[in-house]
Amino acid sequence: MVSVSRRSLLAIGAALPVLGRLDWAVASPPPAPADKVRLNYNESPYGPSAAAREAMQRGVAISGLYPYGHMYALAGLFAQQQGIAEEQVAVFAGSMAALRYAVLAFTSQTRGLVMATPSYEVPRQAADSWKAPVREVSLNAEHAHDVPAMLTADPQAGMLYLCNPNNPTGTLTPTEAIRQALANKPKGSVLVVDEAYIDFSDAPSCVSWIKDHDDLLVLRTFSKLYGMAGARLGLAIGHPALLERLAVFGGDNVPAASTLLGARASLEDVKLLPHRKALNARLRDETVGWLKARGFACTASHSNCFMIDVKQPAQQVIEKLAVHNVLIGRVWKDWPQWVRVTVGNQHEMQRFREVFAAQVA
Ligand SMILES: Cc1ncc(COP(=O)(O)O)c(C=O)c1O
Repeated sequence: MVSVSRRSLLAIGAALPVLGRLDWAVASPPPAPADKVRLNYNESPYGPSAAAREAMQRGVAISGLYPYGHMYALAGLFAQQQGIAEEQVAVFAGSMAALRYAVLAFTSQTRGLVMATPSYEVPRQAADSWKAPVREVSLNAEHAHDVPAMLTADPQAGMLYLCNPNNPTGTLTPTEAIRQALANKPKGSVLVVDEAYIDFSDAPSCVSWIKDHDDLLVLRTFSKLYGMAGARLGLAIGHPALLERLAVFGGDNVPAASTLLGARASLEDVKLLPHRKALNARLRDETVGWLKARGFACTASHSNCFMIDVKQPAQQVIEKLAVHNVLIGRVWKDWPQWVRVTVGNQHEMQRFREVFAAQVA
């Protein structure tokens, strides 16, 4: 580990007056050649914010008590910030759990799942394990969800899954298309909009729509922009009756008090989101610009990941970079020459460029 003096931290901080000084600086010593640069799981390079870490410490001390009061406090704060009711927010130990429960609740062997490809695979895996039929619909030419094709893919569908921005491409689906999906989906089905990455984008959220629609579920996570993937916290937002259907499968799967307090501190820190969003966008756009200048097409990402057309089997590129301790990926079956890259910190993206230039470009 390279040590960073207090003086150099101050110097970095002074150069970055609007970019969350301490978070950025503490997370940013350059990786040593033997350190792994992890750009393969869409994790945050910054981790929990300083305020969240401090709150999480306080949570450790009260871990002997059940955390329900803190869970309701977090749901209440999120609801207040979003202009919805506390009963419309359910808290889980990660949004992946909420997503799996949604698949179990809304699909069956006769009512299938419709989703995009490439997209986040968890709903497909949950449906497969449940033997619910799955229809995958290719993204359209703009790499948005092809909503008209999704709407006709399965007239018996029980759930439509729409990830916005989409993982792995980072691309957006226009709000109007999402409205179309909600208005025209098969009778009795539920639209699940996964907003795990929405904090990185300027796209409008669908959260407020749940006030008027009892067949819409929106998912959020603290794993991405808030850097709390290892602490496990996700939110399901919808009509209380819809949330009840998820609770049957795992209503007791709640996060620890330390996680809940860290999440609350993250929401209370009004500067955190814009700082991290701006930093991520700058590093992403610089890297994508650099790749394009070398002739590599990239997806138009509004997220903390993007895909590159590497013009060769992408698995090969993953392996070449891994030899030099730069971890990227994965590859999705329908796009075998494209690879996903997570946006890391400034030093990590610099290392990515160096190794990519030497091994691929
Ligand atoms: C689209 C999407 N939804 C949900 C999740 C799961 O997030 P969590 O860590 O809250 O379980 C991920 C994680 O990568 C994701 O990419």
